Amino acid sequence: MRIAVAGGTGTVGRYAVQTAHERRHEVVLLTRGNGVDVLHGSGLEQALAGVDVVIDTLNSTTLSTKQAVEFFGAASRQLLTAEKRSGVRHHIALSIVGIDNIDTSYYAGKLAQERLVEASDLPHTIARTGQFHEFAEQIVRQTSFGPLTLVPRTLTRPVAAREVGAHLIDLAEGAPAGRARDLLGPRDESLADMVRRMFAHDGRRRAVLEMRLPGAYGRGLASGKLRGGGARDTATTTFEQWLHTDHQQP
Ligand SMILES: NC(=O)c1ccc[n+]([C@@H]2O[C@H](COP(=O)([O-])OP(=O)(O)OC[C@H]3O[C@@H](n4cnc5c(N)ncnc54)[C@H](OP(=O)(O)O)[C@@H]3O)[C@@H](O)[C@H]2O)c1
Repeated sequence: MRIAVAGGTGTVGRYAVQTAHERRHEVVLLTRGNGVDVLHGSGLEQALAGVDVVIDTLNSTTLSTKQAVEFFGAASRQLLTAEKRSGVRHHIALSIVGIDNIDTSYYAGKLAQERLVEASDLPHTIARTGQFHEFAEQIVRQTSFGPLTLVPRTLTRPVAAREVGAHLIDLAEGAPAGRARDLLGPRDESLADMVRRMFAHDGRRRAVLEMRLPGAYGRGLASGKLRGGGARDTATTTFEQWLHTDHQQP
């Protein structure tokens, strides 16, 4: 099968690419380094020639509602239009468990992306997962000031990006499923505790201050809704195991 991965150099995209190679699929990378700017559509149609399935793992780290909706909206429109022209038969969008009532900030962009995919007549799968174990480091990069790291109070049930990458390839090998079952990790965690354990594991001496973010976004993060509720698949790697296996110290 020929599988294109948008964002194939990213945290999760690179694991999807790795699993696809291991399973002997042909892989096309839709990233700027490979001459494809998905946001503006440049190089996209040429790259999609002969592609069976597109997996969208693009990301923008903005917390602005306007910017998130613009980014995920524009990228999804470009992908879906080019895929239709190129005869792609399955679009897979990676999204996040439990965001339904948090239609603001970053999550507004993800919900806009989901709605565009659902409204498109392209056969599709929306794959929602929990936060990645790697999210602990992603947040540290955004919220560290001097010796202090601020962490928004976030209740989560995280999953290793490696397992999410393999899950995406499982979905690519199957038929379009509409909304796939949620994929969550094996244990409930709080993000601040994950960051503290990661620092202790790495020997990084930094103060961690957990703070409740104001507004609907902050309430959503702290509510426990991101841990999901209904039917789910459960990944196996705990955060503790991940620290000793996949985690790479910065
Ligand atoms: N982080 C989490 O905990 C989590 C949990 C569940 C779901 N998700 C979802 O997973 C997806 C991927 O997240 P991530 O953390 O793996 O992302 P990431 O590490 O920030 O990687 C983003 C990827 O997007 C690509 N990209 C950005 N703008 C692009 C453009 N204009 N054209 C082409 N490529 C572009 C980047 O490629 P280049 O810069 O090389 O071009 C990179 O490969 C997101 O949609 C996110 O919502 C994340």
